Amino acid sequence: MFNFFHKKKADVKLFYTTDVHSHILPGIDHGSQSVEQSLEMLEAEMQMGISRVMGTSHVTAETFENTPATIKASCAILREAIAENGLNVSIEPSAEYRIDEYWDKEYAAGHILPLPGNWLLMENSFQQELLELDQLMFDVQCKGYRPILAHPERYSYYHYRRNRYETLHNAGVKFQVNLLSLAGYFGHHAKDAAMWLIDNNMVDMLGSDMHNMDHARVIMDYLDSKEWAKLAKRLEPRIINDEVR
Ligand SMILES: [Fe+2]
Repeated sequence: MFNFFHKKKADVKLFYTTDVHSHILPGIDHGSQSVEQSLEMLEAEMQMGISRVMGTSHVTAETFENTPATIKASCAILREAIAENGLNVSIEPSAEYRIDEYWDKEYAAGHILPLPGNWLLMENSFQQELLELDQLMFDVQCKGYRPILAHPERYSYYHYRRNRYETLHNAGVKFQVNLLSLAGYFGHHAKDAAMWLIDNNMVDMLGSDMHNMDHARVIMDYLDSKEWAKLAKRLEPRIINDEVR
């Protein structure tokens, strides 16, 4: 079972053990669609060197209106399967919160499921930046949350307004870049922005944002590249993934 990689690469390792962004919880967003898929994805995480996975399922208006209860229920099922299969990996229930009208409602009602340590993984709209984003980031910090902006390199409206990165980062928002972006999976604009963020010391966390095994394979291939070997040395001193606990 789980022998889906043709070759095992002992040197393919991340330098941290916590994946802060994944869509591995089964059946509640457009990531894993079954416990079997989740287990396969967890095995891939382990091959990368990950032993703690944050299940950050989408919470978005109309499409994935998850609640702490739906997320915890999916996590409980996966935890049972992890135990049954004797996998040496742990999973935590949380979310990737899209800032939209559903977020407004759930946040106001206190129906929020942060990562361990009160970290909160938040996602902008891909169309346009929210007008009150700075105020919201201030507000969540006042309430004791530690905001993480998911994949800042993927919002095209920041590519020609890079001062917005500086403003948000200086305001205490941590930035989580996707390994898939570094691998070029989202095109060269996203990769260029990711590299710019690295060059400007604004990348605090890395994440797989893994939705399926295709994503896992793209990341595994990238981790085997010379480019990653060089980049990992630069990133290691400032990546704080393992502080999410
Ligand atoms: Fe995601």
